[in-house]
Amino acid sequence: MQTFSFHNPVKIHFGKGSIEQLRHELPKYGSNILLVYGGGSIKANGVYDDIMTILNDLHSTVVELPGVEPNPRVETARKGIALCKEHAIDLVLAVGGGSVIDCAKLIVAGATVEADAWDIVTKKVFPTDALPLATVLTIAATASEMNSGSVITNLETQEKFGWGNPHCFPKFSILDPSYTFSVPTNQTVNGVVDTMTHILEQYFNNATNTPITDEMSEGILRTIIRVAPLALEDPTNFEHRETLMLAGTLGLNGFLSLGSRGDWATHNIEHAVSAVYDIPHAGGLAILFPNWMKHNVHVNPARFAKLATTVFNIDATNKTDEQVALEGIEALSAFWTSIGVPNRLADYDIDATHFDDMIQHCLVNGPFGNFNQLQAEDVRSILEQSL
Ligand code: NZQ
Ligand code: ZN
Repeated sequence: MQTFSFHNPVKIHFGKGSIEQLRHELPKYGSNILLVYGGGSIKANGVYDDIMTILNDLHSTVVELPGVEPNPRVETARKGIALCKEHAIDLVLAVGGGSVIDCAKLIVAGATVEADAWDIVTKKVFPTDALPLATVLTIAATASEMNSGSVITNLETQEKFGWGNPHCFPKFSILDPSYTFSVPTNQTVNGVVDTMTHILEQYFNNATNTPITDEMSEGILRTIIRVAPLALEDPTNFEHRETLMLAGTLGLNGFLSLGSRGDWATHNIEHAVSAVYDIPHAGGLAILFPNWMKHNVHVNPARFAKLATTVFNIDATNKTDEQVALEGIEALSAFWTSIGVPNRLADYDIDATHFDDMIQHCLVNGPFGNFNQLQAEDVRSILEQSL
């Protein structure tokens, strides 16, 4: 293992009815609340009403910022920042998925400085404070509810960047699996792929002696592979939704990177693709990740073979690590195809037209990837294999 310091201060309230915890938590922060949400799913599924009942009972003053886009835009965060300043907001309550929560993170950081929000995303400005943030999660995927990261898109410049700030950890997050019953099939699938990819990005690291995080990662992956098809067949089954929700949070709350540093190159490439084409984050990952794997098998075939045997049950008898690894990659792709994600960029009508822009976007901070550092020609090869 590598040496590490770890601190994750997010309080999680998990389970049916945990929205009631709002009654105890909110008064600690004040009464002026900015309620941030997306395109309206929370109004259709009753989550908005549950929250408003409690906010009314608490006599909170509520300012609303609806309409946060999937792949949230910097413009929307700018609106939220202006509302915080205008209404002396005490706490931002983000209700939705990763997009809403990520946008709210930029709002809470941006509300404490005079700088433009995009300067925070591009790390020209590093706020040393943030307004308190709380979240009510409605889709299992990103773990943004229990981390301090955020991903924001600037359509004007066709850029999408991840950024983070320790002040942006939510104070608390409410996770009621029944709030995810209404997540449609395609978004449930996207969540599954995103969670699995987070685990895989971290699994491919160069640390040695990581048996605890290896077993945790392999166990969560096996569990998702078993439960996801059941959840898709029976979307209002509480136990299946509960399993996927906890998997999503554990996928990227830092536990799986204790003592190691994950690769994360594929996320960087996906952000470059979705900055230009605005495709779902997980759709891009499902296409790119198996091709990143094939491109990098040579770096440590045994690591890929371990994944293949422990997670995908590949029989390794009389085979080289490389052969086992490739069978594991095929099994991963086959699983994703079986639950309905695309496996070629062409499925999103993406061709090579903007590859140069994407490569430039990926390399904005130089060669990247912690398991194996990628240069421009590596990115081009992965993109070409993904066509
Ligand atoms: O906008 P609404 O109406 O809420 O609808 C959303 C949206 O259309 C819908 N949805 C969410 N909960 C629902 C629901 N529909 C019905 N019932 C519910 N209960 O699902 C759609 C997708 O929502 P979104 O928030 O975009 O999904 P997700 O949680 O997958 O977030 C994706 C974003 O997170 C970023 C991605 O790049 C992308 O922008 N990421 C953030 C990370 C982080 N902060 O740590 C890490 C990730 O790797 C990722 O990059
Ligand atoms: Zn992701």
